[in-house]
Amino acid sequence: MRVTLSAIKADVGSIGGHTRPSDRMLAEAKRRVDSAIGTLLLDGMVTYTGDDIALLMSHVHGSAANVVHQFAWDCFLSVSHIADEEGCYGAGQDLLVSAPSGNVRGAGPGVAEIDFERDAVNADRPAEAFAVFTADKCSPGAFNLPLYLAFCDPMHNGGLLLNPRMHKGFTLGIIDMDYKGESGHGDRVIRLNVPERAWDVAALIQNIDRFAIESIWSRHAADEQVVSMSATRLHNIAGKYTGKDDPIAIVRTQGIFPAPEEIIEPYLITPFVTGDARGSHVMPLLPMPINSALNGPYCHPIVSAVAFSMDTSGRFTHNFVDLFDGPAWEEARRRSQQKALEMRSQGFFGAAMAGVTEIAYTGLVDTHETLNAEFRIRSDAVSAEPAEAQS
Ligand code: 13P
Ligand code: MG
Ligand code: MG
Repeated sequence: MRVTLSAIKADVGSIGGHTRPSDRMLAEAKRRVDSAIGTLLLDGMVTYTGDDIALLMSHVHGSAANVVHQFAWDCFLSVSHIADEEGCYGAGQDLLVSAPSGNVRGAGPGVAEIDFERDAVNADRPAEAFAVFTADKCSPGAFNLPLYLAFCDPMHNGGLLLNPRMHKGFTLGIIDMDYKGESGHGDRVIRLNVPERAWDVAALIQNIDRFAIESIWSRHAADEQVVSMSATRLHNIAGKYTGKDDPIAIVRTQGIFPAPEEIIEPYLITPFVTGDARGSHVMPLLPMPINSALNGPYCHPIVSAVAFSMDTSGRFTHNFVDLFDGPAWEEARRRSQQKALEMRSQGFFGAAMAGVTEIAYTGLVDTHETLNAEFRIRSDAVSAEPAEAQS
């Protein structure tokens, strides 16, 4: 059976600020997903990461299917009405168009989707294991370093040397998130094979505000996609800051792909990413259990990861493992908090605040423009004759 996994995430309102959705909002999302299982969906589940609600769905309608995207949109819309009723903050925040044209990608929600054959006698994938990563208070480039290390660097993933099928390498799809297209349409993308082009990949994705790894494919079995990551920039859609682009990614694991432990290892680094309060700072990622509220000081970017197995009928929700919920992650959290304190102790100065292209969508730009009018070119500074050279 050809199965599609669709992971669609949106912020449609939260309690007391950008913290977490309310219980009523989550219950409504769950009610809608549950009632679609057996008709539209094979299986489905609702989680939250900070103020974002994620719908994780399996079905047979293929990627970018109008019926599934419209279902997700209607679900978020109905949940946003509850947020409105409850006076939640940012009700409908990520629903940026009045009605999507069939596909919610580019309409605000983040979308990750992979199609694959679910076949118990398939030589490459007799079992289907996968993980879903959800992050809040950061942008899609937050996944660049962890994905790069897991798929390009044997110092972090020894499986690239040990597993002959992974040793053949991967094809990485990278998107230029600044590209707006001729008339607002079209994506600027590049595909690079690793390990041969690993330095070219690095040369692009070091710029986490502009380039993001949006897909990864096996080179052992070329039609097998291992990673799909949502990579849209809300400020490109809305033209102003409307919240961060809090990404979601599906990563298939085991067999011809890296194991979950290899995929999550780079998160021990707790890399600095763009995000945090008002999406305008540089702060370390904080690995957190799924369904965590954003309730600490600042707006620490958080990431969660949940692992699943899918049976041959496309069902996966009966059991799952929370990958960032063990004692190893207590240590990572402590280090991330320490890094955060160090960075934020210098407030908004220099590297603590996001780069110019990011803050170009904030009110800081208005202040700069106002101040521009007060600047004067001082001519007396250049009037002095240069001193004669001493012989
Ligand atoms: P979200 O993108 O998660 O809504 O956060 C926005 C923000 O500005 C937090 O300070
Ligand atoms: Mg929000
Ligand atoms: Mg959010």
